Amino acid sequence: MRRAVCPGSFDPIHNGHLEVIARATSLFDEVIVAISTNPSKKHRFTQDERVEIAHETLTYLRGVSVMPMGEGLLAQFCRAQGANVIVKGLRSSHDLDFELPMATMNRQLAGVETLFIPAESSYTHLSSTLLKEVAALGGDISPFVPKAVLKRLKPDDAA
Ligand code: PNS
Repeated sequence: MRRAVCPGSFDPIHNGHLEVIARATSLFDEVIVAISTNPSKKHRFTQDERVEIAHETLTYLRGVSVMPMGEGLLAQFCRAQGANVIVKGLRSSHDLDFELPMATMNRQLAGVETLFIPAESSYTHLSSTLLKEVAALGGDISPFVPKAVLKRLKPDDAA
């Protein structure tokens, strides 16, 4: 059984995330979308809401499950789930610089390898932060997010 973990804040999940998760399903039997919570980050959606949104959005993909990751180490979460690969999308060299130390740390902590999937070019500008700002200022984010996000992210919401 090839099982991978696709971790992130997903605050909220957007089409760039979905594309990477969909491509991961062609490489692994099971992909666990792990929703983290970081006490030092101010999340727009609670962890429960982010799990619910991801559930609603990903039901169409076979082999995908959604789980809260809590506040612990990603490497420990992977071990507990029997996954030895982490999948991350890469939008730019900036992402790579940010991700490389974590990939090495996760391998040294728990022998978990990280697989980077280059984001589709039409999604490389997307980030949850940017989308929240555009939505809050009245911009149309419908081309970039699933319906489950669109209905919850009203223009009045803070970024
Ligand atoms: O979507 P994000 O906020 O970029 O996701 C970051 C995430 C959740 C992948 C990262 O913060 C993480 O791995 N958090 C778990 C805590 C941990 O394991 N920290 C040490 C990393 S080597």
